[in-house]
Amino acid sequence: MNNEAKQPASNTANSSDAWADFWSGTHSIYVNARHMRVHYERIADDLARLIAGRRASHGTPLVLDWGCGDALNAPALVGFCRELWLYDGVGAVQSRIAARFAGAKGIRVLNDADWQSLAPASLDMIIVVSVAQYLSRADLETLMDRFRTVLKSDGEVIFADIIPPHVSMAADIGSLLGTGLTNGFFFAACIGLAKTFFSEYRRIRATAGFSCYEADDFAGMLTRHGFTAERIRNNVGFNKQRMTFRARPKS
Ligand SMILES: C[S@@+](CC[C@H](N)C(=O)[O-])C[C@H]1O[C@@H](n2cnc3c(N)ncnc32)[C@H](O)[C@@H]1O
Repeated sequence: MNNEAKQPASNTANSSDAWADFWSGTHSIYVNARHMRVHYERIADDLARLIAGRRASHGTPLVLDWGCGDALNAPALVGFCRELWLYDGVGAVQSRIAARFAGAKGIRVLNDADWQSLAPASLDMIIVVSVAQYLSRADLETLMDRFRTVLKSDGEVIFADIIPPHVSMAADIGSLLGTGLTNGFFFAACIGLAKTFFSEYRRIRATAGFSCYEADDFAGMLTRHGFTAERIRNNVGFNKQRMTFRARPKS
C-alpha cells in the first residue's frame, strides 16, 4: 500500500545503492502519520497470522524482520515471537529504530555488524516485506544465499509485497486512494501522489530501476538458491496484486 504509483511495466536493472540513498533521506512514501500507522497496523495483522501459524506448527519462533523500516508493527508482533529481531540496511532507519526500541522487551535491533555476524542456522523465521523492489536482482540473490545460511533447516522466509511487472500504475494509485478513503486520509493521499509524481522517487525509478518479478521467475530464483517456494494466496498488506511467498530450505 506504499505510495509507489509510477512503476515501469518491466523488470529493469536496479541500483540498490540509489534506493538506499533515497530511503536514508526524507520522503513522502507515507503521505502522513495516519497513513504510516494504518500501513503498519495492516501488515502487523497479516504477519501476526503467519507467525502464529509458524508457532502452532513449530513452537514459538525467533523472527528477524529484514528491511523492517520504521517497524511500527513490532509491538504488535513481539508477543507471537520468542524474540523479534529488527534489521534495516539503511543507516538512518537503523538509528531511528534503535532509538525507538531501546529497552523494549523481546525486541532487538541489529546493526550491520550484528547482521553480518549472525551464526549459521540461528533463525526460525525471516520476514521481508516490500524490500525486493529496491534491490538489484544480484543483491536479492546474494541475500537469498545469506538467508539460507542463517536460517535453521526447518525455518522459513516470508517474502512479501513482491511486485509483478504487469501491475498497473492505476492499480497502485487505486490502492492508495481507496485506503485513504476508508481510513480518513484521502486528501493527504492525493497530495502525496502529486508530491511523488514530482519527487526523487520517480526520478530514481526511471534511472536506477525498480525490480519486479513474475511469480514463476521469483519462485525459480528461490529454488536455485536452495529453497522450496510456495505462493501464499493473500499478499501481506493492502495491495492484493502484489505477491507473498513462503520459502523453506530444501532438505
Ligand atoms: C517500503 S520500506 C518497507 C518497510 C517495511 N518492511 C514495511 O513493509 O513497511 C523498504 C525498506 O527497505 C529498505 N531498503 C530500501 N532500499 C534498500 C537497499 N538497497 N538495501 C537495503 N535496504 C533497503 C529501506 O530502508 C526501507 O526501510
